This record gives sequence, C-alpha cells and structure tokens, in this order.
Amino acid sequence: MAIRNLRTEGDPILRKVSKEVTEITPKIHELIDDMLETMYETNGVGLAAPQVGVLKRIVVIDVGDGPLVMLNPEIVNQKGSQTGDEGCLSVPGKAGQVTRPNEVTARFMGEDGEWYEVDGTELLARAICHECDHLEGKLYIDLVEGDLHDVSYDEED
Ligand code: NI
Repeated sequence: MAIRNLRTEGDPILRKVSKEVTEITPKIHELIDDMLETMYETNGVGLAAPQVGVLKRIVVIDVGDGPLVMLNPEIVNQKGSQTGDEGCLSVPGKAGQVTRPNEVTARFMGEDGEWYEVDGTELLARAICHECDHLEGKLYIDLVEGDLHDVSYDEED
C-alpha cells in the first residue's frame, strides 16, 4: 500500500467525468488499498479516484463505521435535506455550508464484482453525494452557500 498524491482544486483532472470500472484487476485492488490508506492518513471521511489522479468511478468512505468501497456508484433514491459544513481533501483547510439530501440509497459494485445497495443518513448521505459528485467532475465549492471559511484539523490528530 502507498499514500498517493492528492490533486487539489485548479487541477483540471478534478473537473473531468470518470469512467466506469468494467474489470476488477489487481491494479484496481491496489488503487483501492492506496485510496483507503491516503484517506486515513489525511483524516478524510471520503476519497474519490480522480482526487488521486485516476479517472475511474471508485470511491472510498469511512464515517466511523469502517470502510465502504464503492465501484460505479449511483444514487438511486434520496429524501429530505440537510444543510451543514462540508470540506474536501482537494480543497485543503477550507469548509463551507452545503445542502444535501438527508437520506440516500446508493447502488454500487463491491470489490468482489457483486452489486449492493447502501442506505445512508446524515454524514454518510452527505459523503456519498460528495464523492459521487467527484466522479462527475463536480466539487462542493460549486454548491456552497455563502463563503468558504478556514478550518483547523489540529484537534483531529
Ligand atoms: Ni472531496
């Protein structure tokens, strides 16, 4: 496993649409392992492959319940709304208010090639929406209400 370099806002790769994963190769497993390591190392709750420079539809999320690895994820249902602070490893040191659905259901392929569904509320719903947006070349700063503010991550260490 290895920590990969994070692409930050202004890098054109973050604005591209990622491609579907059609074959789960050893290289894909290695990418997923690296994405998880990179997410944990940087105290993120989610990471999408384009953030490490790979235009594939892969996201990893951990809101504190263990890793969720989703290939070709698709939000198939959403309900309610929540407004709260959101940040992104590709926009370091910043956060801003974003409104998202409060509940989502996502369909995705697991690392084993089988299809699954996950229901997420609150932070997990927010993370799923945020990471799926990355696969479309969208960033939360496109949706932010008001200004971005500075955040300190010191207390998370
Ligand atoms: Ni992000």
